[in-house]
Amino acid sequence: MAESTGQAVGRDELATLKLLALDGALDEPTRVSCGELAARLDASNQTASRRLQRLDDAGLLERTMVSDGQDVRITAAGEHRLQSEYADYRRIFETDASVDLRGIVTSGMGEGRHYITLPGYMEQFIDRLGYEPYAGTLNVELTDDSVRKRARLGALEPVTIEGWEDDERTYGPAYCYPVSVESGDGEYEPAHVIAPERTHHGEEQLEVIAPEKLRDVLELADGDEVTVHVSE
Ligand code: CDP
Repeated sequence: MAESTGQAVGRDELATLKLLALDGALDEPTRVSCGELAARLDASNQTASRRLQRLDDAGLLERTMVSDGQDVRITAAGEHRLQSEYADYRRIFETDASVDLRGIVTSGMGEGRHYITLPGYMEQFIDRLGYEPYAGTLNVELTDDSVRKRARLGALEPVTIEGWEDDERTYGPAYCYPVSVESGDGEYEPAHVIAPERTHHGEEQLEVIAPEKLRDVLELADGDEVTVHVSE
């Protein structure tokens, strides 16, 4: 096994190491050709080859030359280096992994009821969310601050409701994020923010579904403040 020389590797080498790990080089020797690696790194053959050499020199990679390229395997030190990158990303995103969105309850035009009760969606709700939603969506108009925070939902893994079609038209997919809804009167879960893939609502409007009528259980009326806690 190559001895670590303690030589520092840069960002480019680390990106190369990550690519090799994605190819399976953490678990077993993996064949790479410099030409193919260069194309994926958007670099020259020479550059790709130099990066592999540096990873090898730093003890992060073991290499065996073969006729059509080289077999590479990430060393324990290499894995450790990737783990520490991973830990950084976890720290970055875990602090944001739960998002509190605030807003006030509003009334829509009764469209929620129509969509939620369509069998093509309803069957999936029951199957994938584990409950039959009350027929409608609770609309929450977000504060400016929460409109910005809403983008963080993109980092969370939603429950996907597939699109479907009947004789007349197609219905688009929707993404559901598990939440709890808090008002002055208490906190309710399970519930989900539902975001259609194609929406005619602006980003300032949040729609929430739940097995019960939230206006009743949380005693909500238009204009009341609620906080929607989104977590993984
Ligand atoms: O579009 P609009 O807000 O008029 O209503 P809807 O989506 O058809 O839902 C019917 C009513 O139930 C509305 O007053 C919603 O705010 C309410 N609702 C609720 O309280 N809890 C739910 N889980 C879903 C809807």
